[in-house]
Amino acid sequence: MTNKVTKAVFPVAGLGTRFLPATKSVPKEIMTLVDRPLIQYAIDEARAAGIKEFIFVTSRGKSALEDYFDHSPSLEAELERKGKTDLLKTLEDTNMDSGAIAYIRQHKPLGLGHAVWCARRMIGNEPFAVILPDDVIAAEKPCLQQMVEAYEEKPSNIVAAMEVPREKTSSYGILATGADHGNMVEVTGMVEKPKAEEAPSNLAVIGRYILTPKVLENLEQKQTGAGGEIQLTDAIAKEIDGEGVHGFRFQGQRFDCGSKAGFLQATVSFGLSRPELRDDLMGFIQDIVHMDKAAQ
Ligand code: UTP
Repeated sequence: MTNKVTKAVFPVAGLGTRFLPATKSVPKEIMTLVDRPLIQYAIDEARAAGIKEFIFVTSRGKSALEDYFDHSPSLEAELERKGKTDLLKTLEDTNMDSGAIAYIRQHKPLGLGHAVWCARRMIGNEPFAVILPDDVIAAEKPCLQQMVEAYEEKPSNIVAAMEVPREKTSSYGILATGADHGNMVEVTGMVEKPKAEEAPSNLAVIGRYILTPKVLENLEQKQTGAGGEIQLTDAIAKEIDGEGVHGFRFQGQRFDCGSKAGFLQATVSFGLSRPELRDDLMGFIQDIVHMDKAAQ
């Protein structure tokens, strides 16, 4: 088995119900932060981490996602004719080499664990990354790259982790922890969406994972867990006494773009990080804060 992580799975077969009615016809992953769809942020992060093969687990109604990564010869020709080289360069980043990208269908939304299991034949017998594109992470060194480096030092199952307020534990997979090595912490238990009073800690799993093929074997059992879904967390937890599981405290700011509030926060934050937008947007924010205060 190779120890290099070169494949990433992008489970994008969920229904995206929190964004209805938009997600009736637009996949959540195509929704844009400023001018780039969520999926582009995920792909850029994967590329920076050395990923060479991109495996999408999709479902009905996600064809916009497949089109997004195709070349668009007529659009490219038109931009070329108009001498818009900067826009051509922007488009280039969205193109994927033939054979680098694969799509597999999850026929029913049976859970994140099931979605990852659907990709098993493409993953084979090697460690792989899982990226949930609705978790967007702003970081100096991209989060998955930080995790790949941690994996190279300590090959095991690694889940990205962050502290969350106690009252929010029921929205996450929560870790019970053992030896704490700073950014890497040994995991002794994992509980999916516990109530605050039952949560073993407030260290939550977010949407970046590096997993060993053993997790795919565990998923083979297709056990349902919290919410009646086949949970990825449960299959990873089985490796606590096997190949080991670590929580990785990444450096960076995570936005939950699967929720409306998180998506809006990310939009403001990514907008402010663009030099060409910053002054206008900041002025606008200051104005509305001022008006809001005056109205109170
Ligand atoms: P979410 O829990 O955010 O579900 O899934 P969702 O369907 O995308 O959104 P809501 O809650 O209805 O608004 C987390 C990730 O797991 C994928 C989703 O696409 C998302 O990337 N997923 C979830 C699947 O691919 N298949 C599933 O059966 C469930």
